[in-house]
Parts: sequence; C-alpha cells; structure tokens
Amino acid sequence: MFSNLPILPADPLWGLSAAFRHDPRPSRIDLVVGVYRDATGITPVLDVVKAAERRLAMEAPSKAYRSLAGNVDFNDGMAKLLLGADPARLARQFTMQTIGASGALRLLADLVARANPEATVWSTDPAYVNHRPLMEAARLRVNHYRWRERGGVVDVEAVLDDLAAARRGDIVLLHGCCHNPTGIDLPLEGWTAVAELCANRGLVPLVDIAYQGFGDGLDEDAAGLRLLVDRLETVLVSASCSKNMGLYCERTGTATVIAADAPALRAIPGTLERITRSNYSMPAEHGAAIAAALLADPEPWRCELEGMRRRVVGLRNALADALERLGLPEEMCGLRHHKGMFSLLPLGPDAMTRLREEFAIYGTQTGRINIAGLHPDQIEPVAHALARVSSADRRSVAA
Ligand SMILES: Cc1ncc(COP(=O)(O)O)c(C=O)c1O
Repeated sequence: MFSNLPILPADPLWGLSAAFRHDPRPSRIDLVVGVYRDATGITPVLDVVKAAERRLAMEAPSKAYRSLAGNVDFNDGMAKLLLGADPARLARQFTMQTIGASGALRLLADLVARANPEATVWSTDPAYVNHRPLMEAARLRVNHYRWRERGGVVDVEAVLDDLAAARRGDIVLLHGCCHNPTGIDLPLEGWTAVAELCANRGLVPLVDIAYQGFGDGLDEDAAGLRLLVDRLETVLVSASCSKNMGLYCERTGTATVIAADAPALRAIPGTLERITRSNYSMPAEHGAAIAAALLADPEPWRCELEGMRRRVVGLRNALADALERLGLPEEMCGLRHHKGMFSLLPLGPDAMTRLREEFAIYGTQTGRINIAGLHPDQIEPVAHALARVSSADRRSVAA
C-alpha cells in the first residue's frame, strides 16, 4: 500500500539540529532552533509554570472531556491578551484553543478555504518556513510580498507595491511582531498603511503573533494588531503560548476571528468546531490550564517574560556592539534594530556553511540566527567568525 510513496528529504532545520548534536567540537554554538535559551543554555520551564502545574496536580477535579472550543477561561484570557481589555473589541471576536499557533494557522486556513476557496494568501518573502505548507495543506494558493529592511524597519512601500496585485477576499499573512526569520517589524505608520490598503482593496489580514512579549513588551507588541482590529471589519489571528510562556511541547495556542459585530460571528464557532471535530476532536487541556492560570494572575508571568525579553535584547546589543568594534558595515550591525529572537544575516549559503564547518557556529543556510541561543561568553568569538565569513562573502559577491 505505501510502496508508491516517495521518500521525502529530512526537514532541513531538524537536520541541522541533528548535525549540531553530533558535532564533537566543544566550542560548537547552536543558533538554529527557534527556542529561548537561558544563561545556562537550556530552555527553562518558567517558575510560574511550575507553580501552576503543582497547583493543577493537587486541585484539578477531573480529566473528563472539555468543550470542543477547549478551555474557555484560557480562550477568554488570550482574547484579552491579544486585543486588550476593550469591551468593544472583545464583543466582536471568537477565540478557540488550538494545537499551538501551527494548529491555529491551519484551522484559520481551513476556515478561509471553506468561505472563499479562491482566496490567495500573501505571505512575506522571506517567510516563516511553515507558512506556505500550512496554507497549501488547506488548498489555498500562496503568493509573496517583499519583506525588506529600510533604516531598521520594513520598507513599507515595497510591501504596498507587491500587495497592489492582491484581489478582493485575499488574505494578507502578517507577523504581529518579531518577524521570523528577519527580525524586522512594521512601524506603527506601516500598520496604518496596511490597514488602509486592506480597507480599500477588501483584503483580510491574518496576523500570526507567535512572539508576543519578546519585542518591546506584551501590549506594545500587540499595537499593530489592535490598530487593524479598530480599523477593519474582519481580522484573523493565530497566537502561541510556546515562546512567551515556554509551553513549546504542550502545543498551546489560539485562533481568533474578529468580525464587524457579534451577529456577523454567528457561523464561526460552529464552523471552527466542525473543522477540528473531524480532525483531532478537541485540543489537549494541560497547556491551556497552565496558561489560563498565568493569565488569571498575569503580573508574575509578565515579570518572568520581561526577564527573557531583556536577556535577548542585551545579547542582541552586545553582538551589534562587537560587530561595530570590528568595523563591519551597517548591513551586518543592523541587527541591533531587529526585534525578538531572530535576525537574518546578509550572508549566503557558502558563508553559512563556512561558519558551521570552520567555526562550529550553526545558523540556517538562509542566514537566520537565533540570538537567544547565545551565551555572553560567545559574543566575541561569534562576532569574529561573522567578520571573517562576511568579508569573504562580500568579496565573492563583488568578484
Ligand atoms: C512565525 C511563527 N508562527 C508560528 C509558529 C508555530 O508556533 P507553535 O509552536 O505555537 O505551533 C512559529 C514557531 O516557530 C513561528 O515562528
């Protein structure tokens, strides 16, 4: 039965991580995988998560099935986290627990495919590696718009030029903050311009906000999303507790649909529940119960998250300082302006291979590095290695 199936190549990111694990050099540095690491190099379970898990173990009354939409307290808490405690916004939304942001993206793609199978999804170029596969799995077409840097923020004109080809009913897939892989974010004026474009052309934004709290802060990072919600009738949102609560393997996230008003949402809960019912029935409770506890008493969590955010900003600035001291050009030092864990270095695959083979520094072949994977002691050696491979890279481009 399965003999006709082609043997597919291994996922390149997981392949690089495996190569890292087998690298015997003690100086090896993993800047590949998109997870936060603390000063000891591990991806920690947050203290607030451990405390919530202890309470759940003692107090959880039952493991009986929950609702098809998942944990309702969690859904309410996430809606407030995303949209703020604004009753007008909250009255226009329906939020449903999903299997991480990946599950939310797929669920929303399935919803779009049911409502408008002709829709094209416009995704950034470069994009998060799984955006295209998730959208195409729902049989939606995918096109790209440029996501380029200009003075530390996105070149909004390039975005608007490319999106001029989008048709009414198309989806604009945006990263709410901390763009993966570039780290370049939209300034607030850019969000205004995108909102105007969507309003004038009948486009629907799908905001993937997987890193809320890692850019400038929880509310600051949601400012663009909230602006869209205030100016447009329809907005879709996928959110994740993987990064900002460190609940990666608990697969906890939400899909939110915002419509013009409450009556316009009538068909949404039933449709979303029908889609998940025929797939995995309902999401798992544990991660959502933890997240609901964090959201019910948010200050200790906000404080721990802020510590993670500051650590990444500190590492980013230290690396940018070191690159500047070595006299590298602005295009290399510009990572100071980026947000979140990632930056896309202006380095080609040859330079990234050299970085790995000669200096035991692992980034992706496309030039993405995860700043959160660095230890302060590694800043200088990484900066020197980047200086070596980038000057050779520039010479080869010039030749
Ligand atoms: C931009 C973006 N969206 C979505 C996801 C998926 O997140 P989750 O682990 O919650 O499925 C990631 C994970 O790396 C991501 O970077």
